[in-house]
Amino acid sequence: MKKHLLLPFVALYSFLSIAQVYTLPNLPFAFDAYEPYVDAQTMEIHHGKHHAAYVNNLNKAIAGTSMETTSMNNLLMYASFRSAAVRNNAGGHYNHNLFWDILAPKAAQKPISDALQTAIINQFKSVDSLQKLINNAASTRFGSGWAWLVVTPEGKLAVYSTANQDNPIMDVSKERGIPILGIDVWEHAYYLKYQNKRGDYLGGIWNLINWGVVSDKYASAVTDPLLKELEKDNWLALKDFHKVMAQTFHPAEENNFEPLLTRSGELYAKAILLKNATPPASVNNPKVQDALNRLEKQCLLIHQLAQKPSKNQAAKNEQLFEQITKAHDIFHEVEGLCHD
Ligand SMILES: [Fe+2]
Repeated sequence: MKKHLLLPFVALYSFLSIAQVYTLPNLPFAFDAYEPYVDAQTMEIHHGKHHAAYVNNLNKAIAGTSMETTSMNNLLMYASFRSAAVRNNAGGHYNHNLFWDILAPKAAQKPISDALQTAIINQFKSVDSLQKLINNAASTRFGSGWAWLVVTPEGKLAVYSTANQDNPIMDVSKERGIPILGIDVWEHAYYLKYQNKRGDYLGGIWNLINWGVVSDKYASAVTDPLLKELEKDNWLALKDFHKVMAQTFHPAEENNFEPLLTRSGELYAKAILLKNATPPASVNNPKVQDALNRLEKQCLLIHQLAQKPSKNQAAKNEQLFEQITKAHDIFHEVEGLCHD
């Protein structure tokens, strides 16, 4: 085939595998439509400078990597494995998209759906008390971050905050879920009008929350397959721990302590991640939590022991083996409890 005849196929191939380029969405309303609760200049800078910077920096961070064809959910879900640039800017882009979606001037707002209202009343007694909880999460978030209303993998609602541009989809978040309402508590969201008075900004922002859009997000979140993935991902923390446990414990059984001595920090880190990841609802009970706490403590002890200088390596190895055996027993206790 002549070279020029290949060109359409090459073009088609390039089109199909086209790199993902994130773009800054338009704000749904004019900058001054959010007055008097958020001033026009803040909206303009927040959208045109801050959000735009997250988009540009995200595109730069993923350019030329396999992440160009990775979904946003995947970028977020495995944030702990990604660079700070990807974690911060993917979070920044996702979080601001959500924020612009749920803000509207009074006249353009739609009412809350029966389904969301019922869920809120069942869990929080009233929309007012939910707002107080979210305000509390927002005002107690030290430094920059977000306060969230989230649909959990169990299909319940939850309120909490995350730091910086993290969000509940990320594996770095202690609690996971799909956010349906988020309040930006970075100073760039309110400083021009409210200066350091975050409480006053929070008082104002509720006037702009479009409960109709939050309700739409609730309806799609409860059936979103991402919830199952988040549940499974949390469970993967156990598998993740198991891998390092197996790769350090089994060689130790054969008197090879090198893997344990060099990877005790990793073992401890995996134990922390495992303890902090919420287990799937079906196995989330006090016995499992208690065993995970003991496992973390045991791995810390092992790590400290591994780090400790010793003139008698044989005696140290003996102690290490005793402690790793205990950790291994606790791990199998966790597995046993989980399969009950
Ligand atoms: Fe922001």
